[in-house]
Amino acid sequence: MKHSLLEVKEVKKQFESILAVDDCSLIVKKQAITGLVGANGAGKTTLFNLITGYYKADSGKILFNDIRIDDMPTFKRARIGMVRTFQITKALSRMTVLDNMMLGPKGQSGEKIWNIWLKSGKISKEEDMAKEKALEILDFFNMLHMKDEYAGALSGGQKKLLEMARSLMIDPIMLLLDEPFAGVNPTLAKKMVIYIKELREKGMTFLIIEHDIPLITKVSDTLSFMSQGKIILEGTPEEVKKDPRVRDAYLGGGD
Ligand SMILES: Nc1ncnc2c1ncn2[C@@H]1O[C@H](COP(=O)(O)OP(=O)(O)OP(=O)(O)O)[C@@H](O)[C@H]1O
Ligand SMILES: [Mg+2]
Repeated sequence: MKHSLLEVKEVKKQFESILAVDDCSLIVKKQAITGLVGANGAGKTTLFNLITGYYKADSGKILFNDIRIDDMPTFKRARIGMVRTFQITKALSRMTVLDNMMLGPKGQSGEKIWNIWLKSGKISKEEDMAKEKALEILDFFNMLHMKDEYAGALSGGQKKLLEMARSLMIDPIMLLLDEPFAGVNPTLAKKMVIYIKELREKGMTFLIIEHDIPLITKVSDTLSFMSQGKIILEGTPEEVKKDPRVRDAYLGGGD
């Protein structure tokens, strides 16, 4: 049995004179939580953009569930189960938490293999179904009491949580999170670690970019360390953290 969900093979992306991603290879195992670390400018976000289809790679291959996706538009990648979180825009801040959840979930589900949220029998109308699902997801994140608040009134951390909650409306198989803990207070960040681990138990796979080394260590099974466009080190968080190259990157030694 094959265990990888995402395979990035020798992918390259050049911006004029900058080789942002340079023959980069990465494997993300099914139902694993993989942390992606590296100094500022190492190429992490660009790699996310290549994986999710916001940029097209100059060369290399990307496979998701054994399907080549490097020519697939972003929405199709989302449809087959790969979703990335984004910051909430101003327009959404004038909508309630629940209305934010209800935006665009219809007919976008990928594989239904773990449509875990609908436990409650037959609900005929699609909108009722979406609402039921939204409420169950909000409940999972302990945000049910905030459902009627304007998203704009939430704290930075709660907005990040809402963003993650929203992405679950389309039943992703894999979530890519770009610095989910940045600007989140320590109490909420600890809760986020627990939610991510619980979602993994339900079958989800995560790739997480994060500069907060204690938190990414806590949440990840393995860390991949990126430097100058390449993954140069992979292992358990403890192994990766003690490598001098990683220490240099995080002691302001640059990339
Ligand atoms: N659209 C773009 N046009 C030109 N250069 C870009 C573009 N996007 C990224 N770069 C460059 O590519 C390199 C990698 O950037 P990237 O944002 O991927 O790094 P990162 O690892 O995510 O850094 P950080 O930890 O600071 O977020 C940097 O030198 C950056 O300036
Ligand atoms: Mg980045």
